[in-house]
Parts: sequence; structure tokens; C-alpha cells
Amino acid sequence: MNTDISHVKFFGEHDVPLEMHKARIVQPLTLLPIEERFKKNAKAFNNAHLLKSEDVYLDMLTDSGVNAMSDAQLSAMMVADDAYAGSASFYKLEENAKEIFGMKYFLPAHQGRACEHLLCKVFVDEGDTVVTNYHFTTFRAHVLNVGATVYEAIDEDAFVVDSETPFKGDVDLDKLEAIIDKLTPAKIPFLRIELGTNLIGGQPVSIGNIKAAATICHQKGIMTVCDASLLSDNVYFNKLKEEIYKDHQVWELIKEISDCFDIIYFSARKLTSSRGGGLMFRNEPEYIKVRDLLPLYEGFLTYGGISSREIEAMSIGLVETLDWNFISQGPIFINHMVNMLKALNIPVITPAGGLGVHLDARAFLPNIPPTMYPGAALHCALYIAAGIRGTERGTLSEDRGKDGKEKIADLELLRLALPRRVFTLSQIEFAVDRINWLYVNSDLIGGLEFEDEPETLRFFFGKLKPIGDWQKKLVKQFKRDFGESL
Ligand SMILES: Cc1ncc(COP(=O)(O)O)c(C=O)c1O
Repeated sequence: MNTDISHVKFFGEHDVPLEMHKARIVQPLTLLPIEERFKKNAKAFNNAHLLKSEDVYLDMLTDSGVNAMSDAQLSAMMVADDAYAGSASFYKLEENAKEIFGMKYFLPAHQGRACEHLLCKVFVDEGDTVVTNYHFTTFRAHVLNVGATVYEAIDEDAFVVDSETPFKGDVDLDKLEAIIDKLTPAKIPFLRIELGTNLIGGQPVSIGNIKAAATICHQKGIMTVCDASLLSDNVYFNKLKEEIYKDHQVWELIKEISDCFDIIYFSARKLTSSRGGGLMFRNEPEYIKVRDLLPLYEGFLTYGGISSREIEAMSIGLVETLDWNFISQGPIFINHMVNMLKALNIPVITPAGGLGVHLDARAFLPNIPPTMYPGAALHCALYIAAGIRGTERGTLSEDRGKDGKEKIADLELLRLALPRRVFTLSQIEFAVDRINWLYVNSDLIGGLEFEDEPETLRFFFGKLKPIGDWQKKLVKQFKRDFGESL
């Protein structure tokens, strides 16, 4: 029986993604008038993270902890076993995790960055270099925190915005070999491969590349670690774009990937639409080292800082990642939105990846230099024009160097995450419409500057202000074009 949604054809011209779920629990939204949005943006110091969610119409900040949960997850939460030690909920999760990843040892943690903290604390020493395909903000902060550095072994192709490269997240194997030769394996605690590479546009890594990179590392005695937070998006693209895997089942693809790693960790906020995080270990010695720190930083072994209810939801969520129609939903909606934007010539990262749609703020706002944070400026403009919240992924998301100089990011992006099974097609069309209006009026958008700049992960709490009165002009133009429309 064929139950794959991509096999549904339309009789008419239109070709739209179909949902294979129905919504039975809904949450009301408000779209404030533009004058209010202007004020709320100023009150939030032009920082998406400081906006209140009640003031946001479409919250595209992230998929983390905000994907829709299934009825199976919600009902499992009702039967959670609250016990400090030996909770039945934990053993269910452990069993599912072991079966899906084919690894022997599992540890829960309160979220993805907690896994990163533990791994860096245990395996990374001062002066080490962690090699990765591409960094993630919190991962790099943990590496720097222990006095080590991150080296990105990725092809320049990853930074070509409009591209046809199917696996932009692939490790550059020549760079990997060269850095190992240069530093020696003793200085490289592990290779970290991030699936569905977040900061370059949710771009996948091919299984062929994972296998080759892991072989190189294992031959040199270097451990391999996988950030599987975006595993399901990655697996979707492996099946779709890697010819030899097109007939594989999802569980077989996950197995192919996990066989290449010594350790796998994930943010359950992303992977399983619940809360929490998890770490899988192939070998006992590494497991024991991390396990012994768990009670200090997370909680006892059988809850890891997560409520038992969330452990139940995580356990079901892991099993749901094996469902092709479930894991397809995000990427096909993203692809649809990217196609609509491309048809309007709006600069956006291609090929469409997972996680969300990534507007190329550098091309959208060519007159705003990276030091005036074009991605964040575009975000403010979009919030004012449409009540949509996204997140900057560019120079603002980099912290200043110790010398006070800006680190210019490889890409200046405004990421509009599409949490799975949350938004409808009409909401996506509204977003595209307002983005198009902004593109037509892009000369009205100006830059931002810091009013108050934290030293670490400044994008979370930093306070910014617009350079000049461009936001007022934007409101005026909106009123001219849309009248009383919200
Ligand atoms: C690839 C990746 N790794 C790790 C994390 C951190 O996970 P968490 O937000 O659960 O701490 C994230 C969060 O967005 C992520 O995208």
C-alpha cells in the first residue's frame, strides 16, 4: 500500500503540499495593528528574543520546542511515571532510543546544549580543536568555554546562496585530512557532524559523506560525534537525493547514519517535538565518563532534568521520526514557500533545506553592511510589517572577538523556521506576501546598532536600536499601501 504524500497528484494546475494530519487542538493568535507592532519592536530593543509571544502573529523564531505534538504523545504524557530513580517512563525511552540508533547506552539531558556541555566538559581539553562540518552557536560557545577552538571542514559551496548542490552540509574530506595531519589526532578530541546543518540554511549531509569522514577519523583513532537534532530533515533528503538510498526505509537510513558514530546527541526540542535532549554511546567507557557527571549538571540518570511527562513524549516522538509522512511535512512546506519566494525573485537559500526558509539578507539589503546586521534589520522590518518573528543567523549571531572586532559571518540570513505541523498554507502565503512587499520597499529598511551588547551569545539578550528613523518611514509606507489593514 502506497501512503507516501508525495504521490498525491492534483487534477488542476496547482501543486501544493498536503497535510497528513488534522488539527484538533488549536491556539488563538492575534495580529496587532502596525502602530502597536512598531512599539512592541522598540520595547523589545529590536531583538526577536525579547518580544513576547502574545505580540507575535506567526512565530517563526525556531522549531525548537514548538513543533506540534501528536495525540499519541499527549496521551502518553498522562501515564508518566514520576519517580526520582528507576522511572518506568525512562526505561521506555531508553529502549526506543537503543532500538532506533542501534547503540547500547543512552542518557537523558535537559536539552541539546546540555549534551554539548557534557561532551565538551568530558572530552575537550584546553588547546584542543574540535573539527566539525559547521558550528552551532551553543556548541561553539561550549568549546570556547573550555579553552578549545572549532575548525570547520566544509566546502566553500556551502556559502553559495543560490545553488543546486544537494548536500551543502557535507564535510570537506580534503580539509578534514589536512587538519588531522596538521594538528595530529591527539589534538582533535572528535569530529562533530551536524545533520541538517542549521546555520547554513538547514542543509543536509549525505550518508556517503558521513561514511567517508567517519572512516578517515576512525583510521586515525579520532572519535566521531553526531548532532542529530535535525536528523529527520536530513533523512528525508538522504532518501530523496541519494540514489542508492531511495528505496530504503527511514529506520534503515537512521541505522546507516548511526553506524558511523561513537556518540550521537540531540535536542529533543527539535527531533521529537517534546522537550529535553539525549545522548547515545556506542562504548561503555565514554558512557560512564558522561554518566558520572549527569547527577551534577542534569539530574539523576533516569530523568536527566526532564519531567517524566516529557520523557514519555520524547519516547513516542522518537518512534514518530520513523514515519515518512511525518518527517516529510516540514521539508515539503519549506520547499513550497521557497518556490513561492523564488518565483518573486526574492533572494533565498536554495536548495530548500530543513528547519525553515532562509532569506538572504545580504542580497535583500545590499546597502546594509554586516556590521549593521542586515538579517536582524530585516527581521525588525518583517515583524513591523507582518507581526512575524524570525531569527537572525549572521554577524549578530557571532560574538565579537577578544580584540573587540566584529566577526563577519559567512552568510547573513533571516531564518523563518516552520515548526512541523503548526502553520497552514494560508499563513505561509501571508508571510510570502508581506516579504514581497518588503522586498519591493527594501530601500526603506536601514541598519541596527547595539545599545547594550553582552559578551557571549549576544543575540539572545542584546539590546539594539535602529540607525535613523527608517522604521517610522516603513510604517508610513505600510499605511499608504495597506490603509487600515492589519
Ligand atoms: C543543530 C542544533 N544543535 C543543538 C541545539 C541546541 O539544542 P537546545 O535548544 O535543545 O539546547 C540546537 C538548537 O537549536 C540545534 O539546532
